Amino acid sequence: MTRILMVCLGNICRSPLAEGVLKSKLPNDNFFIDSAGTAAYHVGNAPDPRSIAVAKKYGIDITNLRGRQFTKQDFDDFDLIYAMDDSNFKHIIKMARTDEDIAKVKLILNEITPNENLSVPDPYYGGGDGFETVYKMLDTACEIIKRKYI
Ligand code: 4NP
Repeated sequence: MTRILMVCLGNICRSPLAEGVLKSKLPNDNFFIDSAGTAAYHVGNAPDPRSIAVAKKYGIDITNLRGRQFTKQDFDDFDLIYAMDDSNFKHIIKMARTDEDIAKVKLILNEITPNENLSVPDPYYGGGDGFETVYKMLDTACEIIKRKYI
């Protein structure tokens, strides 16, 4: 079983979309995929309606996901931890206990453009097309992640 965690700030916009997109590409008997936020603002909440809508447009249902906060336990529970942006990345690295923990953390857009350390823009305060842009970035990144395994 390969265990992959997607992390953003609120766990209602970017990371639930990343979770849904990657789940749609990988068989669930060999992969456990989850998402979390570095902040606790939206613990227990469903994804943002704009993330739900863009996922639905592409045939993915993320309505049942619920927000949770990233914890140190996640370093033990996951093999790979993908941060959506630089701020999330730094937050997670600060919580790491060992070099092994640090080695699990990657910026998701480095799968598309290695070593460029680009961030998935936070669409929360913007308009609807922000979510379309984020969806496309995540779909491209998750397609590359999938090809590593299948
Ligand atoms: P996310 O977006 O990190 O992609 O889930 C955000 C969601 C909520 C907030 C910020 C970003 N917020 O400030 O509540």
